[in-house]
Amino acid sequence: MIVSPSLLSADFGNLARDLEMINQSKAQMLHLDVMDGVFVPNISFGFPVIKYVQQLCKKPLDVHLMIVEPQKFVNEVRDCGAAIMNVHYEACNHLDRVVQQIHDAGMKAGVTINPATPVCLLRDIVAQLDLVLLMSVNPGFGGQKFIPNTLNKVRELRALIAETGSRAVIEVDGGVNDVTGKQLAAAGADVLVAGNYVFKDTDPLKAIETLYNL
Ligand code: DX5
Ligand code: ZN
Repeated sequence: MIVSPSLLSADFGNLARDLEMINQSKAQMLHLDVMDGVFVPNISFGFPVIKYVQQLCKKPLDVHLMIVEPQKFVNEVRDCGAAIMNVHYEACNHLDRVVQQIHDAGMKAGVTINPATPVCLLRDIVAQLDLVLLMSVNPGFGGQKFIPNTLNKVRELRALIAETGSRAVIEVDGGVNDVTGKQLAAAGADVLVAGNYVFKDTDPLKAIETLYNL
């Protein structure tokens, strides 16, 4: 399993220490949640913080934009050193164009859908994507409870990816722990995002390894 710990649950007073832990861990990516207080009812951190993270973190940055009009910030996200730029389906009027812009900027393109957005809406874009991010909680906060219907969505997306010949990997975000992670692995997920499960554990390296071994 590919593990992408979510920095949202890290100790921001000890960010350098937590990033060194990530460097030493089996995590293959680091997940960064950008919130604007409009698309989601919360505000997190922005580009200056991500630039600092990029200097200290050796793992590829998986940036999840929970913002309106993400197309305005493609160059800023690239300049932060992001490897993957995830935009919400619900935030883009011209998703096909945004995906092209992300690719033209040299990043991998991910599209994220909220729990109430059906997988079938991705039918005409999935072949162009590197990643689909399924939200397994309503976005905006760490530490929420996993929505079990996500397992059906993973299976449906797996079938859609096979049918369309897409190369996209399936990432799941929200309420992931050892139990829900195991269910997601069985359903066909490729990447697990985990915030609280990793950073609130007394042994975060072991928590990451548990997910990695699923
Ligand atoms: C929620 C964010 C998640 C969050 C996950 O809006 O997109 O990435 O950090 O946190 P946990 O794993 O604690 O649910
Ligand atoms: Zn996220």
